[in-house]
Amino acid sequence: MRTLEWEDNKLKLIDQTKLPDELTYVYCSNYKQVITAIKDMIVRGAPAIGVSAAFGMALAQLAGEDMEKVAVEMKNARPTAVNLMWAVDRVMKAENMLDEALEMAREDINTNLAIGEYGAELIDDGDTVLTHCNAGALACVDYGTALGVFRSAFNQGKNIQVICDETRPRGQGASLSVWEMQQEGIPVKLIPDVASGYLMSIGKIDKVVIGADRVAHDGIANKIGSFMVALAAKRFDIPFYVAAPISTFDKEISIFDTEIEERDPNEVIYYGGARICPEGTEVINPAFDIVPKDLITGVITEKGVFDLNNLEKDFKELF
Ligand code: MRU
Repeated sequence: MRTLEWEDNKLKLIDQTKLPDELTYVYCSNYKQVITAIKDMIVRGAPAIGVSAAFGMALAQLAGEDMEKVAVEMKNARPTAVNLMWAVDRVMKAENMLDEALEMAREDINTNLAIGEYGAELIDDGDTVLTHCNAGALACVDYGTALGVFRSAFNQGKNIQVICDETRPRGQGASLSVWEMQQEGIPVKLIPDVASGYLMSIGKIDKVVIGADRVAHDGIANKIGSFMVALAAKRFDIPFYVAAPISTFDKEISIFDTEIEERDPNEVIYYGGARICPEGTEVINPAFDIVPKDLITGVITEKGVFDLNNLEKDFKELF
C-alpha cells in the first residue's frame, strides 16, 4: 500500500478522511492543493506530511513559482511535525526538486524497514502491544514506524496482539491503525482512549510503541493523549517506546518549546456527524502533547534504539 505516489506529473494521495469505508485517491496538480490536503488531513502523519510537502514544492518549481514564498506557505500548513520543515528545507537546497522528492520517498520506505527490524527485537512472542493514533504506512510513504515495528515482529512469526487507542477527536487509531492491521491479518483490537490505564493495571498490556512528530533531547511530541498513556505505562513499569526516523529529530529546541497545533473546535463538538454537547460549548482542542524523556524507555530509529536518559554522546552529535 502506497500512501502517496508521483503519477502522471501529479501527487496521488490516499484520501485518509474516507477510510476505512472507502479507499479513494486525491490528485494534486499544484502546490496549493498539497497544502490543502495537509491542512485537511487527507494526508497526515509526520513522514507522510514531509514527503508530500516535498512533492508540493516540486509542483511549484515545475510551475515556475517564487520558491521562497512557497516554502513559507508550505511550512505553515501544519506547525508541529518537524518533518514538514525538514523536507521543505531539504528540497530548497536541491536543483531538481522532483528528483529530490522521489529520493525522499524511497528513503522513507527503507528507513521504516530498518526501524521495523530494530523495533521487532524489542517485541517478544506472545506480547500484547498498545499504540496510539496512527504511526503506520498511512503516516509515511509505506510500512510505518510504530506499526512497522508490529509488521516486522509479526512477519518474523511472533504471535502478537495489537491494541489500538481510538484516538479522539479525529479517531486515527480506530479508522486507520485498525484498518491497516486488519489488511495484513495482524490480530488487532480497538479500545476507547480512556481504557488503556485500566488494561495496564490488570496486566493486559506488555509494551507501548507510538510514533512522534518531533524528537528533541528532552522528550518527544506526538498525538494528544500520548502523555497520559506514557504516565500510565510508567505507573505499571510497562516499557514505552517511540519509533521515529531521524528526520523527526530536532536538535535545536527543547521539546517543551514545540508549537502545539490547535485545531477546529468542531472536531470535538461533533462525533460521527452528530453534535455531542450543548450548542455554543467552548472547546479546547490541542492536536499534540509532550512526553518528557523520563517516561520514555527508548527511541527506535533507523540507526538503532536510543535511551534519551542515557545517551553515549551529546544529542546534537548523535547523527
Ligand atoms: O494529526 P496526525 O494524524 O498527523 O498525527 C499523527 C501522529 O501523531 C503520529 O503519531 C506521528 O505523526 C508519527 S507518524 C509516523
